[in-house]
Amino acid sequence: MNIKNNILETIGNTPLIKLNKITKDFPCTVLAKVDYFNPGNSIKDRMALKMVEVAEAEGKLKPGGTIIECTSGNTGMGLALAACVKGYKCIFVTTDKQSKEKADILKAVGAEVIVCPTNVMPEDPKSYYSVAKRLAQEIPNSYHFNQYDNLANRLAHFESTGPEIWQQTDGKITHLVCTAGTGGTITGTAQFLKQKNSNIKIWAIDVYGSLLTHYFKTGDIDMSYVHPYISEGFGEDFVPKNYDMSVIDHFEQVTDKDGAVMTRRIAKEEGLFCGYSAGSCLQGLMQLKNSLKKDDVVVCIFHDHGSRYVGKVYNDQWMMERGFLDVKTFKDIVNGRVGKKLVTVAPTQTVADAVELMKKYDIEQIPVLKDNELLGSISEGGLFQKIFSNPEIKTAPLENVMEHAFPVVDFTTPVEKLSNLITKENGAVLAKDEKGDYQIVTKYDVIQSLTK
Ligand SMILES: Cc1ncc(COP(=O)(O)O)c(C=O)c1O
Repeated sequence: MNIKNNILETIGNTPLIKLNKITKDFPCTVLAKVDYFNPGNSIKDRMALKMVEVAEAEGKLKPGGTIIECTSGNTGMGLALAACVKGYKCIFVTTDKQSKEKADILKAVGAEVIVCPTNVMPEDPKSYYSVAKRLAQEIPNSYHFNQYDNLANRLAHFESTGPEIWQQTDGKITHLVCTAGTGGTITGTAQFLKQKNSNIKIWAIDVYGSLLTHYFKTGDIDMSYVHPYISEGFGEDFVPKNYDMSVIDHFEQVTDKDGAVMTRRIAKEEGLFCGYSAGSCLQGLMQLKNSLKKDDVVVCIFHDHGSRYVGKVYNDQWMMERGFLDVKTFKDIVNGRVGKKLVTVAPTQTVADAVELMKKYDIEQIPVLKDNELLGSISEGGLFQKIFSNPEIKTAPLENVMEHAFPVVDFTTPVEKLSNLITKENGAVLAKDEKGDYQIVTKYDVIQSLTK
């Protein structure tokens, strides 16, 4: 029988997949080591199992013991799988920046999850580093793994990720591109590859707001470079012991937005439903494209799966709120038509007045307003019906014949949402601009903006 004895035996041997569309303008081959194929859906399964095995061998983790770790989810998942199979308890300490889905997934595999604030210094007693340390002191027969300084982390990649990439590329790899957090993945993989061929270039991808790039360039721990960022899983505000900067050739920083947008492109264009850091990794490579040559073989590491980011990078609303999606809004339509003031009518004006205005301005809809209060609307179609059945109506005040008011939305509502509000009965939508004046967007405006 061809079977695995437990889930841990399925860790590693992930596929190396050629990128075809996003990288079509590259002069060389670009491959992705897609590590969401691991059972915990991330590359961190490799180092989690290794840390457990080393802790067992060193007598730090004893039967029935409790695993304590600071984890944004991926390391926790790997540790939890190992704990299930090997009979340990898990307590994970994470930050409020991480997606809720990640914590829920950890709970699903039996772990306890403690959430701490993000924007505190590592030495603050509320920081997730401090909380994990304290728990390890208080809970008997527990062990704090500390993936940042635990060298079993990079050893896992030296023993598995590096050799796999070397074999899969038949030794032809010229560049490794990898987001860097604890430094375990990039350092361990690079240490192996450089041992095989010291000419292989190792490019670390970092995020703006992380300390690592400045530290790499200068050797200074300068906290003025540190600020909160949205990207998940990589970048640090200190330098973990897993780093061996001597095997890294370059650090490239990426913005939160560029990484997020690229993550979505990888899913849409390559069919690889990856996590946020995969987008940042490929974005970093894009920024370095000009230094590549025809025969280069580039390997990007894609750390985890997109399912952990459905409420974030893969959610339009989340992307819009952070200014990551360039969507057209009501405001853009209004700003695109220079100097045209909204034509309105008072409820006491007559049907003839409204018809005159429609002719003069070549418009089909007019809101009925009194003291900037919206009372109703007049539409060409509605008026036509009424005048046709009763020509006398021309002198009637509009308040007697007006239809219901157009829906009012926020000035920044995306055009896609406006199109849902425009129906047979509603030929237009209104919104108040920054000055508090009503502006109109008609069916015609929406059609024009969606077909431009
Ligand atoms: C999604 C994701 N990307 C990138 C990284 C960075 O990997 P490393 O910590 O090995 O540097 C991590 C690590 O937790 C991660 O979870």
